[in-house]
Amino acid sequence: MAADHVQPNPGLDGIIAAETVLSEVDGAEGRLTLRGRPIGTLAGQASFEAVVGLLWADVLPGGAAADLPARLGRARAAAFDLALPLLPRLGDRPPVAALRVLLAALPTSTAAEEAVLATAAVGTFVAAHDRVRRGLPPVPPDPALPHAADVLRMRDGRTPRAADAAALETYLVTVMDHGLNASTFAARVVASTGAPVPAVVTAALCALEGPLHGGAPGPVLDMLDAVGTPENAAAWVEARLAAGERLMGFGHRVYRVRDPRADVLKRALAVLRRARGDRDEGRAALAAAVEAAALDALARRRPGRRLETNVEFGTAMLLDALGFGRDLFTPLFATGRVAGWVAHAAEQVRTGRLIRPESRYVGPGASARRVA
Ligand code: ACO
Repeated sequence: MAADHVQPNPGLDGIIAAETVLSEVDGAEGRLTLRGRPIGTLAGQASFEAVVGLLWADVLPGGAAADLPARLGRARAAAFDLALPLLPRLGDRPPVAALRVLLAALPTSTAAEEAVLATAAVGTFVAAHDRVRRGLPPVPPDPALPHAADVLRMRDGRTPRAADAAALETYLVTVMDHGLNASTFAARVVASTGAPVPAVVTAALCALEGPLHGGAPGPVLDMLDAVGTPENAAAWVEARLAAGERLMGFGHRVYRVRDPRADVLKRALAVLRRARGDRDEGRAALAAAVEAAALDALARRRPGRRLETNVEFGTAMLLDALGFGRDLFTPLFATGRVAGWVAHAAEQVRTGRLIRPESRYVGPGASARRVA
């Protein structure tokens, strides 16, 4: 029974529920490191496969092995075969709902193989479902390609431009792991019960879906559309805040300064636009005006609580530039984060400890002393 003097903490703020070697989120300094390496030295510098290997080393058997890229490639092919018979019935489902169904259908094997298959499967499922939804035949993976390039190839049916593949790879690395965020916590809870990886990643995706976590970038673009022009930004932002609404893409439970991933993604977008020779500043100017107006309004309304730009603002801009529809943003987040989910699940299993907090009963028949 929970001690009577312990106050419930419904958001579990500040609770250390796990030890991890995977990533460190320094909310005061605005630093994110993966295995001790600052995210800015990995994203845009190292391949998706290399960072998965870095993350999984000594956590998942064979995680850092030289054949990991080949195993991921073969696993994309296996995931594609698995999805084919299920896709015709999912064509009219939103991407995230279809992804839930497909992940739940993953087979079980050893934890290490389940982790490789799940990591390869998310991007494969996202691309294949997107084509079926558009009335196009799914394109089988090319196991020899890097993961990010193959996801774009499976979406478009042709080899992607190098700059596009690099931009998607930067994004997937940027979001790969981030401490005990809500979806990773969900993954750890499910793993702690002894459930297999398919159950772990399905649960994690369900937690990711909400707008307070991985569901925010689509609404970020809706916000830009609603604002329309840079001149409208300040008035629009004020009106939303006056109506008690939250501005998507701002604020974070842990960061008290700017989310370091926001700048990584901003740089990735600039690199992509330069490579494409894109000189249309219209969208960028609108985004900059909305961001500045939001930061100004949030700082004035909440002087004691710094609310800064989070990862979702840059996510929205980058994935939009890569031609992904808004309802694909959360599934793409999962395409990168799945590597973190399975690694955290492996760490949790090693503790041998079931996650089982307590609640305080305050319903009919509760003792007056406890309800008080
Ligand atoms: N816009 C307006 N007000 C905000 C925002 C925002 N984006 N974020 C926080 N606030 C307000 C809260 O409503 C709260 O007000 P209250 O004290 O009157 O209740 C106050 O600021 C303090 O909020 P916190 O407790 O610090 O916020 P919390 O840790 O609960 O939430 C969260 C963090 C969910 C990310 C929040 O900032 C938010 O809703 N942001 C918008 C959605 C978003 O961008 N989600 C993506 C997050 S990044 C990720 O998960 C990948």
